[in-house]
Amino acid sequence: MIFPIVAYGDPILRKKAKEINADYPALDTLLDSMFETMYMASGIGLAAPQINKSIRLFIVDASPFEEDEELSEKERELVSDFKRVFINAQVIEETGPEWAFNEGCLSIPDVREDVFRQDTVTIEYYDQDFKKHTETFDGIVARIIQHEFDHIEGILFTDKLSALKKRLIKGKLANISKGKVDIDYRMKFPNAKKKR
Ligand code: NI
Repeated sequence: MIFPIVAYGDPILRKKAKEINADYPALDTLLDSMFETMYMASGIGLAAPQINKSIRLFIVDASPFEEDEELSEKERELVSDFKRVFINAQVIEETGPEWAFNEGCLSIPDVREDVFRQDTVTIEYYDQDFKKHTETFDGIVARIIQHEFDHIEGILFTDKLSALKKRLIKGKLANISKGKVDIDYRMKFPNAKKKR
């Protein structure tokens, strides 16, 4: 099943999401649907609040970066099969220098901006079989995880921009919340005018 993706402006994107446990109903089906939804929208990560569920769950598939000429050979190999499910994730620490990466978000179509984040993240999470992991990631993989983790904390990448940048994209964000945006995947817009 393909879910509509919740657009910027919806309060669910601002809520701190709740933990789930191993008997969460139909988790496998939900995960399948989330991957399907993400691939339909050509995304590399998707968090549950983006499909209108305020739970601490996000998925990542970094394989589209396999072709990225700017990555090292080692990093390209890592991303080529980096497909993961993160449940009840908690960031333990972020370290290293901040670097800029041009981020986008399926909930904020047509907006891409350089965002500064630290290079390395250590994260504790459960996988789809509710096996606990504590792992450290860096580079592009860390970046995707940091962006998705923010979603389950109610944070969006646009929050991290300078006051000037925020002002410059304000109109665009308002339009997105109203559905005034050209996209090729299904979305749910909080401020769309109701059709009579
Ligand atoms: Ni996002």
